[in-house]
Amino acid sequence: EHPRVLADLGNHPLVIAHRGGRGLWPENTLFAFERASDLKVDMLEMDVRRTRDGELVVLHDAEVDRTTNGSGKLADLSLAEAQALDAGYRWSADGGESHPYRGQGIRIPTLAEVLERFPEKPKVVEIKVPDIGLEEQLCDLLTEHGQRDKALVGSFYERSLKRFREVCPEVATSAGPTSVRLLVALDWIGLGRLITPSYHALQIPEHSGGLDVATAGLMETAQQRGLNVQMWTINEQPAMQRLLDMGAHGLITDYPDRALQLLGRS
Ligand code: G3P
Ligand code: CA
Repeated sequence: EHPRVLADLGNHPLVIAHRGGRGLWPENTLFAFERASDLKVDMLEMDVRRTRDGELVVLHDAEVDRTTNGSGKLADLSLAEAQALDAGYRWSADGGESHPYRGQGIRIPTLAEVLERFPEKPKVVEIKVPDIGLEEQLCDLLTEHGQRDKALVGSFYERSLKRFREVCPEVATSAGPTSVRLLVALDWIGLGRLITPSYHALQIPEHSGGLDVATAGLMETAQQRGLNVQMWTINEQPAMQRLLDMGAHGLITDYPDRALQLLGRS
């Protein structure tokens, strides 16, 4: 049985804006999520981690250097310090010639701000780094905002996912990397049926050695198990088409406009 967040989305291919569509505008910002929502993407993907004072904010890297005018680790900054930074500062579409989003008031958002602003929008929330109590905090935030049925939670950390599933069993999760490898390996030798998944989706990197070989079989297994297969990070239309033809259910992309155009939805 599909969890609400995926069931509600129906059976069409899902266009998932990676960090809000980082090829088009500054990643992991309200600005990006707003624009991606305007395009009518199916889901917004975002990364969460904590500030020094324990606030959950939406940021990909451990440091603020790559995306903002600040430097250093987010974990060393208070929320106020992190939010004083310009999160549009570094974005450029022309290799650094111009920076159209500098000084526009684009900030690092808290997860709460994102949930408040987009109550209806389905979200892929990635726990970027496990932290004591973070899973409970994420669950509490989703609950407070009435969005347990609006999130699909993922992480590269199996331990964090296990903890999250314990504290937030109603919320959908994706498989961690070890679970994906296990499923692929068992599937490869015809024993995929032995797995009882604790997850609802597979988020699979497009080029990942062994996975490339197993993908077609994996799609079939996933289909049988009702698992939503989402591929990342797919930015070119030929690759998007190929993966959709193979049966991928979702495309996590920096360029949601390209995916929507391919699907005749723009
Ligand atoms: O869904 C997985 C994908 O979001 C991981 O990529 O950009 O967080 O490193 P990234
Ligand atoms: Ca991510």
